[in-house]
Amino acid sequence: MREGLPAPSLRLSRISKKMGEFQLRDISLEISTGEYFVILGPTGAGKTILLEVIAGMHAPDAGGIWLGEENITAWPPEKRCFGFVYQDYALFPHLNARENIVFGLKNKKLPPGEINRELEAVVSLLGIDHLLRRLPHTLSGGEQQRVALARALIMRPGVLLLDEPLAALDPRTKEALQQELKRLHRLIGTLIIHVTHDFEEALYLGDRVGVMMGGGLLQVGSPEEIFTRPRTAAVARFIGAENIYPSEIILHGGRKCVSLGGVLLQVETDLTGRIGFSVRPEHILVSNLPQPGNCLPGKVLAVYPRGLLARVIIDAGERLVAQVVTRGDRGFSLAPGSTVYCSIPPAAINVFPPVEKS
Ligand SMILES: Nc1ncnc2c1ncn2[C@@H]1O[C@H](COP(=O)(O)OP(=O)(O)OP(=O)(O)O)[C@@H](O)[C@H]1O
Ligand SMILES: [Mg+2]
Repeated sequence: MREGLPAPSLRLSRISKKMGEFQLRDISLEISTGEYFVILGPTGAGKTILLEVIAGMHAPDAGGIWLGEENITAWPPEKRCFGFVYQDYALFPHLNARENIVFGLKNKKLPPGEINRELEAVVSLLGIDHLLRRLPHTLSGGEQQRVALARALIMRPGVLLLDEPLAALDPRTKEALQQELKRLHRLIGTLIIHVTHDFEEALYLGDRVGVMMGGGLLQVGSPEEIFTRPRTAAVARFIGAENIYPSEIILHGGRKCVSLGGVLLQVETDLTGRIGFSVRPEHILVSNLPQPGNCLPGKVLAVYPRGLLARVIIDAGERLVAQVVTRGDRGFSLAPGSTVYCSIPPAAINVFPPVEKS
């Protein structure tokens, strides 16, 4: 059995890269051995360019890349030997699945016996034995992506780069392959960088998540941290916090508060002065009577049912979006014009500094 490359850590230090009008801006990031790191960002954020810089397809204008102790900034892609899987599978159309998978090892002129052993190992890992003789155009999207993963994994990459690998799949196949990726990662322990714009995917797969926008890395943290404590309005907006307001910290009875629609709401923060804050729609409790603690009155403007949940748009002096469970026994009306009371626990109010990082 061939030895795989040692599984090292990966470090990016102050990477910048100009591509036409676009620029990767001062990206520093350290990813540990065996970590599943997700880069999350909207279209045009520079996610693919960053992966391609990591893979060695573009040389950075400034900054460096380290693999363990080794500075690999000037290494060509072949020497890095990173696996790369794209959204559109990118299989060779005239080669069957087997030929696609062994392509890299054949190129390396490995003896046929060894190639077959490696093939068997990766094929049983991915459960694709029955697909080996098929040409790519006869495979479903999910099957093609398994073959593309096998083709990358057979090279035993020290780092596996996945560029929106599940974006083109239907929701069910997508979920199955998310589970598959998680299982594979547990088995092989390769450092993975997975690019997506789907927050739920990031939440499910990522040990840590980096949020990328406009060529910069805005926030890195655990998925829960990013979800509950976005540090800028832009990140809050991207992950669906929806209720985002500029404000300032007001001291009231020795407690830190923010004002929303003229009502003071207690918050938990170390910040003072001008701030911004965000509240997730699902963290707002809507009722027909005033509640103790942080509570503000409002009028229902509109209700948008979405299966078991509904989005309720409320005029509480400011526009507020709440998410409620749709059920018959609520006991009060959410019809437009109804008066409601919105409870927002202090811990559900995420406070961040007011100035967007540019
Ligand atoms: N070779 C290039 N020359 C000039 N500009 C480029 C080049 N490649 C990409 N860009 C631009 O850089 C920006 C970032 O591109 P990139 O493909 O990295 O975005 P992305 O985050 O991967 O987006 P998506 O989610 O749509 O894949 C885009 O505005 C794109 O048009
Ligand atoms: Mg891309």
